Amino acid sequence: MATSIVSIVIFSLFIFSSSSNAKSSRKPEAFTFPIKKDDSTNQYYTNIQIGSNSTKFSVVIDLGGKLLYFNSINYSTASYRPVLCGTPQCSISSGGGCMFCVFSPPDTPCTNNTCTDYALNPFSGTRGCSPLGQDSLLVRYARGAHRYYTTVDNFPFQFSDPVLREGLAGPAAGLIGLGRTRISLPAQIASAFGVRQRFALCLPPAGGDGNLIVGETTYSNPLEGISKSSLFTTPLIRNRVSTFGNEVIGNLTHEYFIDVKSVRVGSKTLSLNKTLLSINKKDGSGGTSIRTVRAYTGLHRSIYMALIDEFVKAAASQNIKRVASVAPFGACFGSKTVTSSKTGPQVPTIDFVLHKKSVYWRFYGANSMVRVSDEVICLAFVEGATNLVGPTTSIEVGGYQMENYLLEFDVASSKLGFSSSLLLHDTSCSKFGAS
Ligand SMILES: *[C@@H]1O[C@H](CO)[C@@H](O)[C@H](O)[C@H]1NC(C)=O
Ligand SMILES: *[C@@H]1O[C@H](CO)[C@@H](O)[C@H](O)[C@H]1NC(C)=O
Ligand SMILES: *[C@@H]1O[C@H](CO)[C@@H](O)[C@H](O)[C@H]1NC(C)=O
Ligand SMILES: *[C@@H]1O[C@H](CO)[C@@H](O)[C@H](O)[C@H]1NC(C)=O
Ligand SMILES: *[C@@H]1O[C@H](CO)[C@@H](O)[C@H](O)[C@H]1NC(C)=O
Repeated sequence: MATSIVSIVIFSLFIFSSSSNAKSSRKPEAFTFPIKKDDSTNQYYTNIQIGSNSTKFSVVIDLGGKLLYFNSINYSTASYRPVLCGTPQCSISSGGGCMFCVFSPPDTPCTNNTCTDYALNPFSGTRGCSPLGQDSLLVRYARGAHRYYTTVDNFPFQFSDPVLREGLAGPAAGLIGLGRTRISLPAQIASAFGVRQRFALCLPPAGGDGNLIVGETTYSNPLEGISKSSLFTTPLIRNRVSTFGNEVIGNLTHEYFIDVKSVRVGSKTLSLNKTLLSINKKDGSGGTSIRTVRAYTGLHRSIYMALIDEFVKAAASQNIKRVASVAPFGACFGSKTVTSSKTGPQVPTIDFVLHKKSVYWRFYGANSMVRVSDEVICLAFVEGATNLVGPTTSIEVGGYQMENYLLEFDVASSKLGFSSSLLLHDTSCSKFGAS
């Protein structure tokens, strides 16, 4: 036994070292960005390498975000170039207008006639309008045990006002957007390499590893098998009205919306105001978005109350003892009265039923309950806040509910593929990679 493990290790080291400097003959088709969760802010971040000496930064992942922005003294500006007005790179931004020399990375001469864009910090709500620049982004792709690097030349981003870093996870210098814009990471990779605009996201819990894979590839097993045989598919829908006001051109949100038609606890369907579940075509309010920049799923007050009522009832019928609530959560339970299983605490399931009854996103205890102390676990859903700068979305699916699910965003055909909890399949996002 011991000898065979040793020989496997030696064999894989051999493959790795013999190929690490090789060039792949096939065109790269998918790029991997490792994901970690920051424990204190509940934000998910990845690393990027940009510029002439490939400076490494952590950037927070914003699924619905527009573009890449960062601010760091470590950024070497030797290969930075401003995006000038009237260029193709400028025309794909949503345009904050042309700017005279006001603000640019340290040590770069200011330029007139520079294209600007708005960037949003989704935690503080701060927006900044600054010039856009471009530089080469180093990206990693894999073929089995082989890893290769290549660059996206002229990758557009904003060297932002430092105020846009406030509220970001400690190690992060900025934020990277995966939203439905032409300037986002998936859109830029699709156009640079001529690949389909799609990406797969597998968010890890704190302490774990996950990956974002942009482009098309086969995954390593068992995730490849799960992706091929057991994904649910639902349309990605578009809110015609921006949830963050003030978009000059485009006037569509960058966020990904899905069509949640009803919510179930166990087999019981909650009685909800259906108007809240659909997007109001005139003002953009209502509907369900998916947001990695929300720690827990936020629900319109009436949906939240209905969920808590039904969940508490269903839990009581399993002899789970309710205890005093711990803010921001509205229903907490004695953890000693809950048994555990491979999908986490054994509590009533919660389903978001989508465009068809047979398509639903089911949350088990690992995604519906959060431990707040040794004795107490709470229902990991919160009352959603009112959006002060645009229409309020009724359901914002948060990061905790996405952890250890495989989510495939096929932007090109506006479809979301999602697995059931990977824990049910005895695996997790730490096993997610390209093969
Ligand atoms: C980064 O690039 C700048 C300019 O080309 C150079 O002065 C600096 O030494 C480089 N830093 C590293 C760590 O390579
Ligand atoms: C700059 O680089 C140093 C050394 O790698 C690192 O400790 C520091 O956190 C970085 N600062 C920023 C703002 O990224
Ligand atoms: C920018 O334009 C202004 C007004 O036309 C001009 O005075 C200034 O010299 C220009 N600055 C640069 C860096 O070209
Ligand atoms: C954005 O869309 C709304 C609703 O369709 C419309 O009333 C508004 O005029 C649009 N704004 C812009 C700037 O196009
Ligand atoms: C349902 O929600 C809509 C949108 O908030 C609201 O206008 C309407 O009054 C609600 N209906 C009921 C019966 O509460």
